[in-house]
Parts: sequence; structure tokens; C-alpha cells
Amino acid sequence: MKTYEQLLKENRAWAEETFKKIDKKMSAVTIRSRDKVPDGVDENGMHVNHFPDQKDWWCNGFFGGLNWLLYHKTGNEEYRKTAERNEELMEETVAEKAFEIHHDVGFMWHLLSGANYRLTGNRASRARDFYMATTLMGRFVLCENSTGFIRAWNSKPDSPIVNWSIVDCLMNIPLLYWASEETKDDRYKRIAMAHADMAIRDHLRPDGSVVHIVEHDRVTGECVKTHGGQGYAEGSSWSRGCAWALYGFTLSYLHTKEVRYLDAAKQVANYFIANCCDDWLPRVDFRAPAEPVLYDATAGACAACGLLELAKVLPENEGGMYMNAAVNMLRAMGEKFCNFDPSNDHMLDFGTVRYPVDGDLKKAGVHISIIYGDFFYTEAVLKLLGDDFLIW
Ligand code: GLY
Repeated sequence: MKTYEQLLKENRAWAEETFKKIDKKMSAVTIRSRDKVPDGVDENGMHVNHFPDQKDWWCNGFFGGLNWLLYHKTGNEEYRKTAERNEELMEETVAEKAFEIHHDVGFMWHLLSGANYRLTGNRASRARDFYMATTLMGRFVLCENSTGFIRAWNSKPDSPIVNWSIVDCLMNIPLLYWASEETKDDRYKRIAMAHADMAIRDHLRPDGSVVHIVEHDRVTGECVKTHGGQGYAEGSSWSRGCAWALYGFTLSYLHTKEVRYLDAAKQVANYFIANCCDDWLPRVDFRAPAEPVLYDATAGACAACGLLELAKVLPENEGGMYMNAAVNMLRAMGEKFCNFDPSNDHMLDFGTVRYPVDGDLKKAGVHISIIYGDFFYTEAVLKLLGDDFLIW
């Protein structure tokens, strides 16, 4: 097995070439889509604007975040203008839709306002990110023995979701780590860690796969029921859920240096790698029937980010194994799934929203372009170049 350093060197030219293509494409997209907050594209390959109908959509921070990543690397002011415009559009959400704020404020705001503050020192953005960190902290459900979890979603009259947690939320808690790092007030961090500890206990299975949704006992916090969520079925293994856990536990380790999070991340990483097919193109669910072959490129791109961060902190050979898997996935997806043509708005295709349990591929959003796919693919390529800033 080659070491991390050897692989970094060997893949440098590929990463540089790929970044050039991303930059060429995105420097056109950023101007065209400046007044949009997109999460996908229409039939002509152009970004669809979510505003004003879906102000609280969990993906609304990714386009701005992608522009901040690109601005950080290139210094191109066009990227900055688009990221700032996205935040301006989103700002209305804070005032108007506060009552609908949910667990996904990390995805929505830390990539946008959090990145703005950290890259430009903008104090209004800092305040916005804090407001969201405090809101996220307020979702914590305190159970016996000081355990607990951050509650997912909000109840609706026809759907009383009360004591649920989801594995995705591991990607929201970096907002809390940041709030503690920024203020030296450890309350945010302690709640983030309580949630991550719950995820080790209730979402992580012994084989390294993860449960998407856990229903908890309100008093003890114990798991009373699990749900398959966006995967194939209860007990299956949704690949994006695994990717959220892989990168999410890694981020908890990077922010706290607690080895239990590193161990959890490695457990998921080993499972993810072992379950990738020979072509390195991630399937939607690792325990779904082999046919039809359904991919989720977004899972691969997010997992690659986690693997590359793990590779940096592990001893050379172990790091090399994770680096090798990340590079294989990125190269395979670059060849088969990426569209670098600057005349359309989508880059990483073959993303999938959820497994089509009823066979309706369109309704389930199968093999489509999703904004977080573009975001994570770009983030991973920047990591290979050593030029990303850890936005999480
Ligand atoms: N966080 C929702 C999803 O991964 O689709």
C-alpha cells in the first residue's frame, strides 16, 4: 500500500487538471446563478431557484458555501459576490421563518454566514451564525444521566415527530463546535458531543454501517425503534447516511481530539470501503438488491472528504489506505459522472435523493444533479490540492 504522501504526489496533476475544469465551469455558473439559491437543475441543465418558496430547505447553504470554497482558493471576487448574495437572500429566512427552523441550520448557515465571517470577518454574518448555533443547541433533548440528542425535524399536525434523531445531524454539529471555539463557552461543544456520543451508541452498528433514523425513549433517551429513512429498508444501509457518519465523526474528532470519534469514523470508513464495488461508484444503499443498479454520487463525494481528512491524521500506511479509496472514488466519478461543460449548471451527476422503494425513480430523485454533490466534489478536490479551508 502506498503512503499518504506518495499518493498525494501521484495525484497532484489529476487534481490540478480537475480543479481547472471546475473553476472554468463555475466561474460562468457563479455569474448566471447569482440571484438563485439552487438545489438542482431544470430539463435544460440550468439551476432552479428555490426562493421564495423553500426558504427553509436544508440544502440552501451549499451553493453559497461552494462559492466560498472557490473564493478561498482563487480570490476571484465573482465567487464572493455570489456567496454574499445568497446570504442576503437567505437572511429573510431568519426573520420570517424562525418558527420553522429545524436541525439542518448547520448545513444552511455555517457554510454561508459561518464561512463569510471566517473568510472576511463580517460581524453581521458572525451574529447570524451564532443565532443559528443557539437555535440548534435549543433543540437538545435532555434525557436521564445527562444523555440526550438533538431532535430532528419539527412536528406537523399530521405527523407528530417528537423524539427522533437522524445520522445526518452529525454534519450540523460542527456549527456548535465553532460556537464554543469562538466564545470559549463550552456549552455548545458539550451538546455537540452528547449528540455524537448518542450517535455512536444508537446510530452506529457493530459492522460500521449506520441507522438513518432513531426513535428515542423520551425519558431514558434509549433507542426504541429504528427506521430505514432514505435507504432501501429498515436494517439496510443508506450510503449517504454512511457518508454523513464517516465525515461527521471525523469532524467531531478534528474539533475535540476525542479518540472515540476517530475510532467511530474509521469503523464507518472501513465499512464504506469494503462495500464499494470494484468500479468505486457508490450505490444508493449498500444492502439493496444488486439490480437495478442505482448510484448516489453525493455519498461518494462526501465520503471522499471524510476519508481525506482521516488520511491526514492517521499513520502513513493507514492514511494511505483511506487516501487510496478517496482518490479511486473521485477519479471514477470524475470520469463517469462529472460534467465540466461551462454552458450548463450541473457538475456532479448521478446523485440520488432517496431509494425509490415504490419503484418511482422520478419521485425519489434518482440519478440527478444535486447541489451538495457539486459542493463535496469540489471540497474533496481542494483537499487533494491542500488548498481547502475546513468550512465545517
Ligand atoms: N439530509 C438529508 C439527505 O441527506 O438527503
